[in-house]
Amino acid sequence: MKVTIIGGGGRVGSNAAFALQCAGIVQEIQILDANTDLAEGEALDLLHGAASLGGQRIYAGGYDRAKDSDVFVITAGLRRKPDESRLDLINRNVALFQNILQSMQQGGYAATAQVFVVSNPVDILTEMAVRELNLPWQQVYGLGTMLDTARFRSLIAQELSLDASQVSALILGEHGDSMIPAWSSATVNGLPLAGMKEVTPAFQQKLFERTKGSGAEVIRRKGGAGWAVGATIAETIHAVALDRKSLLPVSSQQHGCYGLRDISISVPTVMGRKGVLDHVEVKLWPKEVQGLQASGRALRESLNQVL
Ligand code: 2OP
Repeated sequence: MKVTIIGGGGRVGSNAAFALQCAGIVQEIQILDANTDLAEGEALDLLHGAASLGGQRIYAGGYDRAKDSDVFVITAGLRRKPDESRLDLINRNVALFQNILQSMQQGGYAATAQVFVVSNPVDILTEMAVRELNLPWQQVYGLGTMLDTARFRSLIAQELSLDASQVSALILGEHGDSMIPAWSSATVNGLPLAGMKEVTPAFQQKLFERTKGSGAEVIRRKGGAGWAVGATIAETIHAVALDRKSLLPVSSQQHGCYGLRDISISVPTVMGRKGVLDHVEVKLWPKEVQGLQASGRALRESLNQVL
């Protein structure tokens, strides 16, 4: 599988490339960036690690060289300031994103190509890509609340001194202020987290607030996320590459799941080689469904500003 990372010269894109290289599952990684020197530099630095990490083909190139990509990952975009919401980024990043879509169309892509949006506001930009690219909606998806879910699981595990890989707890909805925690399905190795005495309403509120504020916290401390977002990008791509049929909270265009339509947002989604295989309306608490629908309304209001 070939993956082209548009914005691969930046922190998120290059960290994602490194995560893909370490896993050794995709065979080819193209680094594409408006800053061609940076793209060449990141590709060279990654290539230097091939002796230790395995022999993928890793190189820098433009849209003309990307037309054979199986997956285009779009990480390019301006980062928000700590006190800015991801939706505040709309005006600055929409124009840049539309240029990227036009460049992709000029460079060409296969009818089977998939487009994986990471740039923020990711749900808005994912919906834009679905509507503007002549690809089936199942082949266009966004990172959505994948990173929020990874943070949520990791922070819960740290707080409870548990193995993070055994903690399952979904964040759904917008990758932004209206995201919601699905405590109803939170488990540790299949056992309900709610059954643990430490998991009180105060604990739940604290952990969710920390998760929701994690993006801004990382921006404040180091300028922006990189490692965890790269890991979740790789996790999503590997579900596609290996046709895993993984249930992931990626963002994709909705067609009725939880009553959501015509917006892209994160619901439980089965991912495989053809991209989005299914939306699964798992049973949630009524307040979680209400929160998810409120998140959908918030996104629709923002979408109406740009489309
Ligand atoms: C974050 O939450 C980059 O939006 C991403 O850090």
